[in-house]
Amino acid sequence: MASTNPKTMPLIGLGTWLSDNEEELDRALETALELGYRHIDTAWIYKNEKVVGRVVKRWLDSGRITRKELFIVTKLPICGIHPEKVAHFLNLSLQNLGLDYVDLYLIHVPFGLDSSGENDPIPISNGKVVIDSRTKLEAVWASMEAVVRNGKAASIGLSNCDSSQIERIVRVAKVPPACLQVEGHVYFQQKELRATCARHGISVCAYSPLGSPGRGDFYQNFGRTFKPLGLLSDSTVVRIAKKHGKSPAQVCLRFLVQQGIAVIPKSVNAQRLKENLQILDFELDSQDMKDLEGLDKGASGRSLKFDFLPGIEDHPAFPKDMK
Ligand code: A2P
Repeated sequence: MASTNPKTMPLIGLGTWLSDNEEELDRALETALELGYRHIDTAWIYKNEKVVGRVVKRWLDSGRITRKELFIVTKLPICGIHPEKVAHFLNLSLQNLGLDYVDLYLIHVPFGLDSSGENDPIPISNGKVVIDSRTKLEAVWASMEAVVRNGKAASIGLSNCDSSQIERIVRVAKVPPACLQVEGHVYFQQKELRATCARHGISVCAYSPLGSPGRGDFYQNFGRTFKPLGLLSDSTVVRIAKKHGKSPAQVCLRFLVQQGIAVIPKSVNAQRLKENLQILDFELDSQDMKDLEGLDKGASGRSLKFDFLPGIEDHPAFPKDMK
């Protein structure tokens, strides 16, 4: 279990980014809960919180689960990165989810857009996103703290931030960030960022822990191409998987979890959902870990640079190491 405040976040969660098909996601969530997933990661911007809420309600109403057993994560969207919008967007998410509180509320990105709100989530002008360069992350954090105080979020955290942004928040925080959610996998191990988090007792949750092999369609919608990282066919990963009688995906996930990093692999496939959860019954030895650590490509291993948002790199809060 990764340490978060005040409740413990299960190390393996279900990612739902790009789970756009409602029926498919509904089935996947049913299967995931049956299998024992208790940590569900969603976001307002994914447009699937209502499906998560529908399935959770079915489980709560039938008595198969209690609210306390669940760990539900959602995120303040890019169009809500403003002190006066935090409570509003969290309320929208809670309505969608049909819940009184979320277990963890994350600032989805440190860079906000100059948006009128939920009806214009990604404002574009002259082919570029309309950035809000005035709002300071510290001011947004103060509003995040208020939602902890009023009980609508049990804990709060950050996502897609760099070390300097984390340090800035830690300096002013009355409620410290419980968690940082960032891209993390064998090709992009985020060692420096993880060290910053460790120094401040912030747990790390890795998104795209399998390198997001299914992201191609999403990029195509933006007229872009996604070059898959191919980490599931990496020869070192495949060799270690064979040695343990496990799949490459299980090795990639185990590598992170064994270091205390939470993972949120996305799947809508029953077999893969099961596979992704079965990573606690084997251990990578020190040589395996060393070999896998050797796969780190540093910044060039990053797959998500938000380049589907044209002009976002001009935002002053756009993390330098993402450029
Ligand atoms: P599917 O939903 O059809 O299972 P990431 O979490 O790194 O973004 O990766 C998610 C992608 O990887 C999805 O396309 C998902 O497809 C696929 N996937 C999830 N689990 C596995 C697995 N165990 N083996 C291979 N591919 C997987």
